[in-house]
Amino acid sequence: MTLEEPHLDDSLASAPDQLVQRHAQPGRSLLAVLHAIQDELGYVPPATVAPLARAMNLSRAEVHGVITYYHHFRTQPAAPVTVQLCRAEACRSMGTEALAQHIEARTACRFDGEHQHDATVELESVYCLGQCALSPALMINGTLHAKVTPQKFDALLAAASKCVEVTV
Ligand code: FES
Repeated sequence: MTLEEPHLDDSLASAPDQLVQRHAQPGRSLLAVLHAIQDELGYVPPATVAPLARAMNLSRAEVHGVITYYHHFRTQPAAPVTVQLCRAEACRSMGTEALAQHIEARTACRFDGEHQHDATVELESVYCLGQCALSPALMINGTLHAKVTPQKFDALLAAASKCVEVTV
């Protein structure tokens, strides 16, 4: 994401301002507003940086810095199928790296890479999902799965893809 103003067509020009006005209530922190925007849209559009800066009395660089500092915030919509694989110690000891290689080969995607606008699958590394005793663990579209094997992943991916009608 850059600090340049995105170009919006006239019909969308006021949307970021309205979005920010809805969520930037007096006394609300920038983090709370960012969470609210992401909860509503699934991401924080770059076009909201300038209105957020005005509403929160911050510089655009400060708003941009917070959005990019926290891995949780996205600046573009997620792919229809999002896989979050735990890469922390307990899962590593139970084979999550081999599972990661399988997932990358199966999906033809890379973990933590920039996903293409039209990508159907997005792979993200996370660090502990609270399922250490049931490693390796991952989430697909927000649903937690434990003791995941390559075969189990393939079945989960097929089910998730069917739900969102994509072909993987
Ligand atoms: S280390 Fe993977 S769930 Fe805790």
